[in-house]
Amino acid sequence: MPLEEMMWVEKYRPKKLEDLVNQASMKERLTPLLERKGELPHLLFAGPPGSGKTTTALIIVKEILGDLSSDYTLSLNASDERGIDMVRERVKNFARYSDRRDGVPFRLIILDEADSMTADAQTALRRIMEESSQFTRFILICNYSSGIIEPLQSRCAIFRFQRLDEGSVTTHLKEIAKKEKIKPLEPRVLSSIYESTNGDLRQAINLFQAASASGELSLEKVKAVTGATVKGRVGDIVRLALDGEFENARLKMVELTRVYGIPERDFLKFANEELTNQKGDGLGDAIKILAEYDYRLVMGAQPELQLTAMLAELSALKNRKGE
Ligand SMILES: Nc1ncnc2c1ncn2[C@@H]1O[C@H](COP(=O)(O)OP(=O)(O)OP(=O)(O)O)[C@@H](O)[C@H]1O
Ligand SMILES: [Mg+2]
Repeated sequence: MPLEEMMWVEKYRPKKLEDLVNQASMKERLTPLLERKGELPHLLFAGPPGSGKTTTALIIVKEILGDLSSDYTLSLNASDERGIDMVRERVKNFARYSDRRDGVPFRLIILDEADSMTADAQTALRRIMEESSQFTRFILICNYSSGIIEPLQSRCAIFRFQRLDEGSVTTHLKEIAKKEKIKPLEPRVLSSIYESTNGDLRQAINLFQAASASGELSLEKVKAVTGATVKGRVGDIVRLALDGEFENARLKMVELTRVYGIPERDFLKFANEELTNQKGDGLGDAIKILAEYDYRLVMGAQPELQLTAMLAELSALKNRKGE
C-alpha cells in the first residue's frame, strides 16, 4: 500500500480549497486571487501546526501549474539542517530561470518554516524575491509571523490560519470514520482526542488512526496511545519543577511542545489548572510566576526560552524553601 493510502493524514488531505475544514476567512480572500492567476502576489501563511498551511500551498500549486507543477515548483524547508546557505543557493538558482511553457505564469517556491531563518538570511531572501519577481512567486510558511522581518511581510499577502475548534475536528473525524467503516464514535472518545491534540488536525487524525488500528475505538485505546493526557503531562512537568528538578522538567517541556506540538500558552493554562488542584503552601508564589510568564508570551517573547525560565523560577522556589 502506498504511503498516501496508509496514512489517513495523507489519504484525507484536502485537494480543493472548499474541502479544507474551517479557515473561512483565508478561503474567502484566497479564492479571488486564484481566479486571476497571473496576478498572484507573494503569500505568507502563518498559523499553528496541523491547521492546513502546507495543504493550502499544495492546492495553490496545483491550481496554478496543473500537471506541470512538479517542474515549476521548488519546496524547501528553511530549517534544513544542511544550512541556510544551501537553501539560499537553491532558491537563487531556481528563481533565476525564466523559461516558461504555455499556461505557466511563473515558478513557485514554497519555503516552509521561514521563521527559522535568521534576519540576515531573510534580508537576502528579500533581495532574491525582488530580483526574480517577474518569473517567480513565493509562498512563505511559518508558525509566527512575528518571526518574519517586516520588509518581507510587507511584500506578501498575509494569511492567518486558525487553530481548529473542537466541533470542526470531531466532525472531520466522524467523516473519516464513516469512510473507514469505523463504528459510530462515542462523543467522549472524540473529545478526548481533541483534548490531547489541541486543535492540531494532523495530530488528531494520527491519534485517531493509531487508536483504531486494532478495530474498536475506545477511550482506553486513545489514552494508551497518548500515554497520559496532555494535561497530565503538563502536571508532571510542573511537579518536577516544584520538586527542584529543573533539568528534567525542562527536557520534558521541550518534548511536549516540540514533538507533540502543544502551544506554549496552553502549557501555561494546563499548568495553572494543575497547580490550583494542588494543595500546599507556596502555591501563591507559583501562580504569580505563571501569570508573569503568561503575560510575557502574550507580548510575543520567544516561547521556549520563556517556558524554560519559568521552570527555572519554579524550581528555585523549592531550593529557596530548602535552605
Ligand atoms: N484545515 C484543514 N482541513 C482539513 N484537513 C486538514 C486541515 N488542516 C490540517 N489537515 C489535515 O492535517 C494534515 C496536515 O496538515 P498541513 O500539512 O496542511 O498542516 P500545516 O498547517 O502545514 O502544519 P505544520 O505547521 O505542522 O507544517 C493534512 O494532511 C490534513 O489531513
Ligand atoms: Mg506544514
